Amino acid sequence: MSRTLFHACHAATLDPARPGVWGAIEDACVLVESGRIAWIGPLADLPADRAEGAVRVDLQGCWITPALVDCHTHLVFAGDRSGEFEQRLSGVSYEAIARAGGGIRATVAATRAASLETLAETAEARIRLLMRSGVGTVEIKSGYGLDLQTERAMLLAAGEAARRAGVRLRRTFLGLHALPPEYESRRADYVRLMAHGVLPALHAEGLVDAVDAFCETIGFTPDETELMLGAATALGLPVRLHAEQLSDQGGAALAARHRALSADHLEYLSEDGARAMAEAGTVAVLLPGAFYALRETRLPPVDLLRALNIPMALATDLNPGSSPLVSAPLAINMGCTLFGLTPAEALAGMTRHGAKAMGVEHECGLLREGLAADIAVWDLPQPAAIACWIGLPGPERLFLAGEAVQP
Ligand code: NIG
Ligand code: FE
Repeated sequence: MSRTLFHACHAATLDPARPGVWGAIEDACVLVESGRIAWIGPLADLPADRAEGAVRVDLQGCWITPALVDCHTHLVFAGDRSGEFEQRLSGVSYEAIARAGGGIRATVAATRAASLETLAETAEARIRLLMRSGVGTVEIKSGYGLDLQTERAMLLAAGEAARRAGVRLRRTFLGLHALPPEYESRRADYVRLMAHGVLPALHAEGLVDAVDAFCETIGFTPDETELMLGAATALGLPVRLHAEQLSDQGGAALAARHRALSADHLEYLSEDGARAMAEAGTVAVLLPGAFYALRETRLPPVDLLRALNIPMALATDLNPGSSPLVSAPLAINMGCTLFGLTPAEALAGMTRHGAKAMGVEHECGLLREGLAADIAVWDLPQPAAIACWIGLPGPERLFLAGEAVQP
């Protein structure tokens, strides 16, 4: 059994069982056995002999946090949409670009034309950018294939890319992301095909951990979304939902009725939607990268979410269109500067609550005995500095299951 003692550090454990917003431990040490945290606490309290024979790693006074969790990405894709960035800057809206066949559909065309190996290679490079910024766990959605073959290729590419990079992965099926051109006049057929044909086939191959849909005027109606969430639930799969990003479709309440792990975006969330989420234990995933890149002005109702004790996760939403964001600390910073989260809320959003949104909270997302030794080491004077800096490249070092990883 491999044993390592990390010492000479301070820990922001994000463990709510510990006092303070950070669950901080000064002069901490972490004993890791077989990739898991076997003991964590003040070095002075480490029982004599407990760490005997362990390899000692001196962290030289740095702060450690859980490795970051990016619970909402679309990082498997081909093509480039920086031209749309130029269009949006000249005043064309995201919706108008989508309606004209650009946006998600443009990425679909490029992704369908790409090989599985190209998708895996480019996805691995993007995962490594996230890792460089501190991420050890990532969720990746399909949704740029919109046919069985390409949705399957995306999920396989996600699995291969995450395996090569060495991160924990959960894969989400997002067949209802956009209506592909070949189904333009056959919406209902497309929704049924995805819900009753493609989803079960991909699930049978073990490629799906959760199911998502884009419930929006330029996406799918609440009824269409309901059909997909029902199919997911019938297969025993947890659901997530792109809800209330550009308008209030009642998506959050719909997600909550399906006991969703999360509802994501939420700029247009209503009070009723929020109450339904609170009752269902659905995590609010806030995506400041898309808010920023689309120059949205409507803010997600953070005070309401706080008042209802709804856990708030933060994620990059890494995608080629609405959120080309490859830095977790920048998402944390934006969560504070744009959405008004406190630094501790923002860091919890990219660790503990992100893990809950992915359904992996029993594996990672905080530093506690029994959980994975996924540890980011920050050469910063206090954990709030992670949120304060703009453009911080990431932690000094990253350990996943106790092993140093090289992004
Ligand atoms: O989360 N909202 C829908 N899906 C993505 C956008 C994907 C894209 O523009 O390619 C999002 O913002
Ligand atoms: Fe998204």
